[in-house]
Amino acid sequence: MRMCIVTGASSGLGMEFAKRILAGGEVDTVLAIARRRRRLDELSKLSGGRVTALPLDLTERESAEKLKKFLAENKPDVRFLVNAAGFGKTGRYDEILRQDTDGMIDLNCKALVDVTLTVLPYMHKGARIIEVSSVAAFQPLPSFNVYAASKAFVLSYSRSLRWELFGRGIHVTAVCPYWVRDTEFIGTAKKSAGKNAVRHFPLASRTKIVVSLSLFASKINLPVATPGIISFIVRLVTKVIPREIITAVWQLLRKI
Ligand SMILES: NC(=O)c1ccc[n+]([C@@H]2O[C@H](COP(=O)([O-])OP(=O)(O)OC[C@H]3O[C@@H](n4cnc5c(N)ncnc54)[C@H](OP(=O)(O)O)[C@@H]3O)[C@@H](O)[C@H]2O)c1
Repeated sequence: MRMCIVTGASSGLGMEFAKRILAGGEVDTVLAIARRRRRLDELSKLSGGRVTALPLDLTERESAEKLKKFLAENKPDVRFLVNAAGFGKTGRYDEILRQDTDGMIDLNCKALVDVTLTVLPYMHKGARIIEVSSVAAFQPLPSFNVYAASKAFVLSYSRSLRWELFGRGIHVTAVCPYWVRDTEFIGTAKKSAGKNAVRHFPLASRTKIVVSLSLFASKINLPVATPGIISFIVRLVTKVIPREIITAVWQLLRKI
């Protein structure tokens, strides 16, 4: 059974990745992971039953065990792994709830590594991993600090994992989108309390474009995908302009 595993499949980028990869014909089935069972069941119905819902809170310790058990029982040939589950909260260090600060690290970093390590034994030559990072990974972002740091972790982890998997022929691409407007991410990020929260998300992209460009980047085996003109420009600019200047510009822009 050729399978794709998608975390964060109940909305936004994860759901679109699941639909597009299934429609692409490279897999027979998608294992969709997120907390909201109803959303996953709807996705399963839409796909004519080709999506299996596995409702898990990936920040809970037992979730990796449940995934491990599912894989051991079904022994799939995993052709794709997409780690899209993640969230961000904006605000200064003392404005973000401690549970959200911990949650960003637990979900964006720890759960992503846990899922990757749990699934890797079921992946073979030609399989592809997409780790969803962010354009926030390219530079430190005050008032989006822990989120940006968590995504820098994902970018670094993916780049090294790619080399570690070289001999096995498994491709790894870190996807680094700029703001995407038609997902639940911005709504969650905006809900942060405090006057330092980011309120405006200009020139945001769209899910369909981000997923199309990301899948293309994965297909041609790019280590890093910047799926959109803004993320591409940010990546270039952060390579040539000193960090302190970029951070000062962000401090100005985020107040607009
Ligand atoms: N949208 C943007 O502007 C943007 C930009 C750059 C990068 N990204 C990254 O893109 C990825 C996808 O975000 P999105 O824009 O599609 O946002 P989204 O619509 O909020 O999707 C986030 C997904 O993560 C799942 N999730 C959240 N907490 C979870 C938990 N504890 N356990 C399991 N699943 C959990 C959510 O499902 P449940 O609530 O059902 O659990 C949902 O399916 C994230 O990693 C995000 O950091 C987004």
